Amino acid sequence: MTRAVVRPAEALAPQVHDEVDMSTHLAGLDLPSPVLTASGCAAAGRELDQFFDLTRIGAVVTKSIMPEPRSGRATPRMAETPSGMLNSIGLQGPGIASFIERDLAWLHQRGARAVVSIAGDTVDDYARLAKILRMQEGISAIEVNISCPNVEDRGKVFACDAGSSSAVIQAVRRNTDSRVPILAKLSPDVTDITTIALACVRAGADGLSVINTLLGMVIDTDRLRPALAGVTGGLSGPAIRPVAVRCVWQIRQVMPEVPILGMGGIRTGLDALQFVLAGANAVSVGTMVFNDPSAPLRVHHELQTALAERGFTRLIDAISYAHGYLDREHPASDPVEDDVEAATEEP
Ligand SMILES: Cc1cc2nc3c(=O)[nH]c(=O)nc-3n(C[C@H](O)[C@H](O)[C@H](O)COP(=O)(O)O)c2cc1C
Repeated sequence: MTRAVVRPAEALAPQVHDEVDMSTHLAGLDLPSPVLTASGCAAAGRELDQFFDLTRIGAVVTKSIMPEPRSGRATPRMAETPSGMLNSIGLQGPGIASFIERDLAWLHQRGARAVVSIAGDTVDDYARLAKILRMQEGISAIEVNISCPNVEDRGKVFACDAGSSSAVIQAVRRNTDSRVPILAKLSPDVTDITTIALACVRAGADGLSVINTLLGMVIDTDRLRPALAGVTGGLSGPAIRPVAVRCVWQIRQVMPEVPILGMGGIRTGLDALQFVLAGANAVSVGTMVFNDPSAPLRVHHELQTALAERGFTRLIDAISYAHGYLDREHPASDPVEDDVEAATEEP
């Protein structure tokens, strides 16, 4: 009989690569970690705090808040899909007043950086929310969730139209302290995400959150009807990662300097590294948290290890690094060498 090899506990613990500087800048924010939570996947962070110290991640991005309390859509509002999930929660929430009193106050007292996500039915809703938040302390940034139906435009999602996206961002910018950065959260359900990204930046967004869920649908083949009561829902999780990485890449190509918070299906440090190499200054971990509540901190450590293994000593040096692959693989020929070669060439 073979005997099990018992390893000391420390041999099993992941190696810590503290030599890699994980700090990053995102739209004027200095963050000690590039890993944040994703809106709607960790409420206001209270539940996660029992699994890891919230102050060690970049920030908590809170669930999108609306002006008034809302009960969300009818159930069932979750469906499993291969490598992902579909949700039609419908922005259930307590409304801005209760959010400020309970959640924002708790985050502030806890010392966690808070990125407050806002959502509305009309441009005026967003303006009202920004005005109310202007009076509050302890807000690191505002993330503007524009993946909501615009009731003033036949329910067309704001983020699917450059003009509507721009109107929302302008309204929020006008009513927000200029020291508080605004991130516009984009939808991938568009023909050209760079057009919407440009419109948001021109309207005053300091950075972009890329991406929200993709619109999807599941049919229940036993009940012969849509699986979700709301018929369609938002697809998230690893299934959407290649779409999300593509969106970050495309925006980075068009706007080399715009701060990007990348997200979509991040489970591991290597997943996060894909986003950073594609151009993300920081990343959000969403759906994975339902499976592993300590995922944001774990992803931070795994990303740090992955960077160390690839010879990076600072996270910021890896941002957009993949965009230089052609130059690295086919370096421009040395002009001096070219001259020598030309001079020695046989006629
Ligand atoms: C259950 C659930 C609720 C969500 N709620 C919000 C929300 O309130 N506001 C928002 O901007 N995004 C919301 N999202 C989208 C996530 O923030 C994120 O953009 C998306 O899920 C992709 O990341 P992931 O694959 O890591 O989850 C939600 C996602 C899920 C799964």
